[in-house]
Amino acid sequence: MNKKFFENPIVKKWIPEEIAEWLEKIVAENFRDADNKWGSWKVKYKARHTLKVVKWGNILLKNFKEAGWNKKQAIIICFLHDTGRFPQVKQNSYSDIDTGIDHASLGAKMISEFSFDWENIWCNKAEITEAIMWHSRKEYLGKNRYAKFIRDADKLACFEDWKEMEKDIEDRKIEGTGINPLVWMRLEAKEPIDNNLVATRAEWVLNIASWLWNINYKAARKEAIKMGMSKILLEEFKNNGNTKGEVERLKKNLEEFRKSA
Ligand SMILES: [Fe+2]
Repeated sequence: MNKKFFENPIVKKWIPEEIAEWLEKIVAENFRDADNKWGSWKVKYKARHTLKVVKWGNILLKNFKEAGWNKKQAIIICFLHDTGRFPQVKQNSYSDIDTGIDHASLGAKMISEFSFDWENIWCNKAEITEAIMWHSRKEYLGKNRYAKFIRDADKLACFEDWKEMEKDIEDRKIEGTGINPLVWMRLEAKEPIDNNLVATRAEWVLNIASWLWNINYKAARKEAIKMGMSKILLEEFKNNGNTKGEVERLKKNLEEFRKSA
């Protein structure tokens, strides 16, 4: 019997069994075929991350004021958003660059090849695959609100797992206090920072701060503040050894964010 990765009440309530079984199988196969024990650990970790995104998606949907959300579709997108991660992380890396796998495109492709009658459950396959395709790109300028929604739910789940993000950056030996002026510029313009620009730990902290500005929905911004993200980022920056002036500069930016939320 396959190990159940997705025993969860929200999954049980909202995800049709055929879809849940499909993803269970993908996770189980990649867990089994992982390159080493850290690869299988990462497969398991990403299955847990999936459940956290489902949880945050559910919280956001409860707090949204605007009408007309297809809740089943939204939760399905949370559940499937990292489908392409599982074949990737068995290589023991979360990095699209290092593995040469664009996990979002791969996930969208896997879902579009999955033969399932989406219309039968009142879901729109094109909307689902588009949302998944764009869930982790630097920015999304389209109109699909499920794409905006999954980007927010995913960020909240990552914030919740701050320790794991830190560990990943340490494993990848990204360290140091140096900051490319372009990184400050983009953060202060409230624009997303390209992952390729992140070469030091200080730049990584500023990149995460820019995620805050790129949250789409007010309900998600509020959750990020409730989680104490501005405090966490400032502490991280201080502990990293950045100068007082730099810490003050980030503090100002984060205060502005708090006021805007
Ligand atoms: Fe992802």
